Amino acid sequence: MLFGKAGVDADRDEANASLDRKLRDLLVERYGDSIVSDFIATIPGSWPDVIPLMLSHKSVRGYTSEPLPAGTLEILMAAGQSAATSGNMQTVSVVATTDRAAILRLADASQRQAFIETCPLFLSFIADLSRAERVGYRIGVDLFALPLTESFLTAAIDCGIFAQNVVVAAESIGLGTCYIGGLRNKPDVVAEELNLPQGAIALFGLCIGYPDKHKLTDIRPRVPQHVAVHREKYSVADEEAALSHYDEISARHEVRQKRTVPAWRLRHRDRFANRVYLAEREQLKDGILGRGFPLK
Ligand SMILES: Cc1cc2nc3c(=O)[nH]c(=O)nc-3n(C[C@H](O)[C@H](O)[C@H](O)COP(=O)(O)O)c2cc1C
Repeated sequence: MLFGKAGVDADRDEANASLDRKLRDLLVERYGDSIVSDFIATIPGSWPDVIPLMLSHKSVRGYTSEPLPAGTLEILMAAGQSAATSGNMQTVSVVATTDRAAILRLADASQRQAFIETCPLFLSFIADLSRAERVGYRIGVDLFALPLTESFLTAAIDCGIFAQNVVVAAESIGLGTCYIGGLRNKPDVVAEELNLPQGAIALFGLCIGYPDKHKLTDIRPRVPQHVAVHREKYSVADEEAALSHYDEISARHEVRQKRTVPAWRLRHRDRFANRVYLAEREQLKDGILGRGFPLK
């Protein structure tokens, strides 16, 4: 048990103890402090290694030049393709870029985020209805649902699910990752770089490589679980107080990382009310339409 169990089966407790302690520490790190101790105390037993692996996630923004072992891309892609996919339509494509000059160009198109240039492998995740269109053409069927918003959305959802399997697989073998939403800034530039046909759009990138230990950060705390996870019915009771407390937790975290970012609630201003930050993404709908998704 997380907080000790009197008497019974001491050997098993001993065997489980390290995982449990690790899990408890990870939960405290993930949520920031004692605010979670009540719910931690309700979690019994020990859990398989994949759970602490997932709870250990942190984005990595700096990589060593160490090459990835042979077979890494193939294994990561198999993990991604093993994810659930809407109707088994598999409307996801990935372009894997290892060429330094090409990664530089993709970094340039992604708000020039310098750390991207250090990764040995850059994956672009493509919502891809072009394959379905080609299949439809070959089997002689008018796939009239392809232009629907629904079809774009399912491809986008599948991209996220595929990618997160890749992230978990990569982290399980000691690699670091960072998603790159900046790839949506210039859909046409990216499409040309990757040779995408109409009906295919890069939704986000993913840097993969061995973490540069000097650039590592701590686990970034999340909002208290009861703010994001609702039991039976959605409720905002206690949200204000909980988020105010989370502001303190996240501010302390950012100071420890030597980052000068405002408290979490104020970051909404930077993210959702800042035209400079949004850059070209204010026009993203036009970009999506232009890539051949009518969003009907
Ligand atoms: C779809 C998506 C796009 C993202 N784009 C970027 C990006 O362009 N640059 C960046 O530094 N981080 C990016 N991130 C990483 C988030 O900033 C990060 O996940 C978040 O701050 C939480 O930190 P953590 O991943 O370390 O827990 C992105 C994350 C997601 C899911």
